[in-house]
Amino acid sequence: MVDSIEGVVLLPNALVIHGPNLNMLGQREKRIYGATTLPELNSMLVAEATTLQWDLSIVQSNSEGDIVSAIHEALGRYECIIINPAAYTHYSIAIRDAIAACNVPTIEVHLTNIYKREEFRHKSVIAPVSVGQISGFGPYGYVLALQAAANLMGRSPATQSQ
Ligand code: DQA
Repeated sequence: MVDSIEGVVLLPNALVIHGPNLNMLGQREKRIYGATTLPELNSMLVAEATTLQWDLSIVQSNSEGDIVSAIHEALGRYECIIINPAAYTHYSIAIRDAIAACNVPTIEVHLTNIYKREEFRHKSVIAPVSVGQISGFGPYGYVLALQAAANLMGRSPATQSQ
């Protein structure tokens, strides 16, 4: 079931944030990140959102401050944030604190399995303020994150029929 105000159907919604260098997917270190471009990845996500009947907003930024502001603006507007903070994962206390401050349920996604890579990627400062982390499934990890968000909110078709 979806909420409705005066005939306007309100679908559950999520904000997807792609961090730095993810705009380069498809060209960037293809051996590691694969050939899927960011627009192709976003299309997969939108298709899944349509199936789950969720609204999605998707942003990409190479700037830490813009990502912090996007997280602040999610408060009261989105039920969930799906974020790949990219390199900021490993050291951005500002992004970590923004997630903690806003308290919008946040799911961390990585295309690669960060624990199988260089040691400096093994630490995520975002994980302790996230609901959970999905790492290593390529673009499909975002689809899994959206399914996890729907399940978390009890607003996936599967949970609605129970
Ligand atoms: C990444 C992993 C990070 O270590 C890296 O800096 C990225 C992408 C991933 O999706 O696998 O830019 O977040």
